[in-house]
Amino acid sequence: MRSSILFELASLPYELLTSAPVWEEHCAQMAAELPAGARLVLDLGCGPGNSTVHLRDAIGAGAIGGDYALPMLRRARRRGLPLACLDAGALPFRSGALDAVTFHSVLYLLADRPAALREVFRVLRPGGRVVLLEPQDGLGKTVLGMARALPNPRWALTALLWRTASKAYGRFTSDTLWAALEGAGLRVSKIEEALGGLGLTAVAEKP
Ligand SMILES: C[S@@+](CC[C@H](N)C(=O)[O-])C[C@H]1O[C@@H](n2cnc3c(N)ncnc32)[C@H](O)[C@@H]1O
Repeated sequence: MRSSILFELASLPYELLTSAPVWEEHCAQMAAELPAGARLVLDLGCGPGNSTVHLRDAIGAGAIGGDYALPMLRRARRRGLPLACLDAGALPFRSGALDAVTFHSVLYLLADRPAALREVFRVLRPGGRVVLLEPQDGLGKTVLGMARALPNPRWALTALLWRTASKAYGRFTSDTLWAALEGAGLRVSKIEEALGGLGLTAVAEKP
């Protein structure tokens, strides 16, 4: 199923499942990776706004949530966030306009990841950052991450569904995520494990 149809249908269950404290904690950690003094940040694929609210807490009204699924944007609107209906492949921003772009669990869903990352490179100012959290590949990572999630049944269910979706759409190793970012002209400063090894966070800068 195309991810656009999936997220049109699943906005309510998605919001309920991802309001888990573990997910929220990692959304907050992404906000901590924004460049100092950031004023205009796009949370690309914001969904119901889980990740965007943490960006707003960090920088205020310049945190914009962007998504192409209207049901997701309707949910995010209840949180009073500035929003844009957009597609990752053609961002409605001037070149060099943004201080940062965040992807929380989005890049893996995209059919044309290189095109999306080229767009991100275009809209970032020099020194601007991209901050991502994406699913990590590997059977061992699945087994260990799910074992770590099990004591928290709600998080274990969210993690299981995230794992199932990423099996269908794609996952990254540190090397493939690094290569995807550098291939778009971004300079990677950090890639580390997140969500008990089920995910990877990455920070990269436009030189
Ligand atoms: C797994 S959700 C992540 C939502 C949110 N960032 C979070 O952390 O909970 C992925 C979101 O990406 C959006 N999305 C997928 N492909 C997109 C595209 N090409 N352009 C814009 N949004 C897209 C989906 O509609 C969905 O809301």
